Amino acid sequence: MTRKLIAGNWKMNGSLAANEALVRAVAQGMGNAQCDVAVCVPAPYLAQVAQLRAGTKLELGAQDVSKHEQGAYTGEVSAAMLRELGVRYAIVGHSERRQYHGETDELVADKAKAALAHGVTPIVCVGETLAEREAGQTADVVKRQMAAVIHVNGHCISEIVVAYEPVWAIGTGKTATPEQAQEVHALLRAQLKAASTHPERVHILYGGSMNAANAATLLAQPDIDGGLIGGASLKAPDFLQIIAAASAASK
Ligand code: PGA
Repeated sequence: MTRKLIAGNWKMNGSLAANEALVRAVAQGMGNAQCDVAVCVPAPYLAQVAQLRAGTKLELGAQDVSKHEQGAYTGEVSAAMLRELGVRYAIVGHSERRQYHGETDELVADKAKAALAHGVTPIVCVGETLAEREAGQTADVVKRQMAAVIHVNGHCISEIVVAYEPVWAIGTGKTATPEQAQEVHALLRAQLKAASTHPERVHILYGGSMNAANAATLLAQPDIDGGLIGGASLKAPDFLQIIAAASAASK
């Protein structure tokens, strides 16, 4: 069975003091977890969390990355800069960036490429809105989002992580049922299989109100290889319970 991956997405939350308490509690509490664990933190805190996590098994992630190498792109952060800080993962194409910052499928694909070129694993987010689900378009939407990333990244596609995040489940307390999530994960898996030489390497995470209470049943689904956790990653006891569920499911 695949070793699961649990990635926290802090979004725009944190402070120097709060980060220190949270990272220490998570790193200590996870001990020798049987799953991989990362926290994706706001850019200004990457250096702080890089120091706090040193010597632990907790991996560091960013929440975005520029598609550009370097230069006159005010406000952007390059993959090389992330790598220099010891960043292992970068979320790309989160629905909040697609929605509030106009990120297109093509831009998301280019960002994934820039990350891969510098040894940063992109966590590529895909997912449908409530209107799209109700119109029966879920499969078309996630396949279209995924196809753009496959098209631009070719053979490197087996090096990415995918996160299926139904937009209607993010931060709403409404979780996809394990069956709803599994159905979409299975079709993403089939799409990746057709495009990749090592599809078994690709982790497909579920995200959208995953919490301490529902993590175990979601993670028991055959094609759910981990979770991308927003709200529950800000509370150490909740995040640790999800890590424990993932550890148990990884064995
Ligand atoms: P949530 O967020 O767990 O708070 O729903 C998940 C995400 O947006 O990655």
